[in-house]
Amino acid sequence: MRVVFIGDIVGNLGRETVKRLLPWLREKYRPDIVIANGENAAGGRGINAAITRELFEWGVHGITMGNHTWDNREIFEFIDDEPRLVRPANLPPGTPGNGAMIVKVGSKELGVVNLIGRTFLPPTDDPFRAADELLTELRKQTKNILVDFHAEATSEKIAMGWYLDGRASLVVGTHTHVQTNDNRILPEGTAYVTDAGMTGPRDGVLGMEKESVIRRFTTGLPSRFTVAEGKWVLSGVFVEIDDATGKARSVQLIRVDEDSWIAV
Ligand SMILES: [Fe+2]
Repeated sequence: MRVVFIGDIVGNLGRETVKRLLPWLREKYRPDIVIANGENAAGGRGINAAITRELFEWGVHGITMGNHTWDNREIFEFIDDEPRLVRPANLPPGTPGNGAMIVKVGSKELGVVNLIGRTFLPPTDDPFRAADELLTELRKQTKNILVDFHAEATSEKIAMGWYLDGRASLVVGTHTHVQTNDNRILPEGTAYVTDAGMTGPRDGVLGMEKESVIRRFTTGLPSRFTVAEGKWVLSGVFVEIDDATGKARSVQLIRVDEDSWIAV
């Protein structure tokens, strides 16, 4: 199975970039399944029903979230009726939505788990224990499993990669918006990348307009962050999985921007 994972889609420019590049991604990587992190898709904070629908129309098959899951309140209206979107699993029992799903496209089935880290982020339940429970459950149906670990600390993400080695097909980090050059296959067959990077404005600070971020750093005064404009970047990960075993065969980084991309 061939899977493309698109890193955090930020705002309008991020969405436009996904729309523009999905045909190229399909041509180049021939993915069976496309998963995207959408927690910053609506103006940099959260997601809404229209954007969710659009992403599916353009060819995304499943959406993962993160710490901004609830920032757009519209999500409460549809999250329980949308089986193709997951929020972090390690939230208190009773939280709306699901933390895991099985994405089916044709004859292919991919389990998708979303987890959130506890280092430098608000307290949540233990993501490692949540992963234990969900992977045990999902692996009864499929060995092909993608884990999006939305976390700040590289150490916590790397630890999760090792912890799930042999149980997940891909453990990919999101949230920092900076792609890491550490794609590899761990000894038991799990593909791993600390962070997929972001999709959206290339020349901001993590997708936000740079002047407002610099102002906050240099003055310490409140500064309203807005999504940057200008040139785009698309970041993600491509993984090939042996369907029978769930082990990864290869894992590559995807990173193109407005200046490097050549349309086919
Ligand atoms: Fe995030």
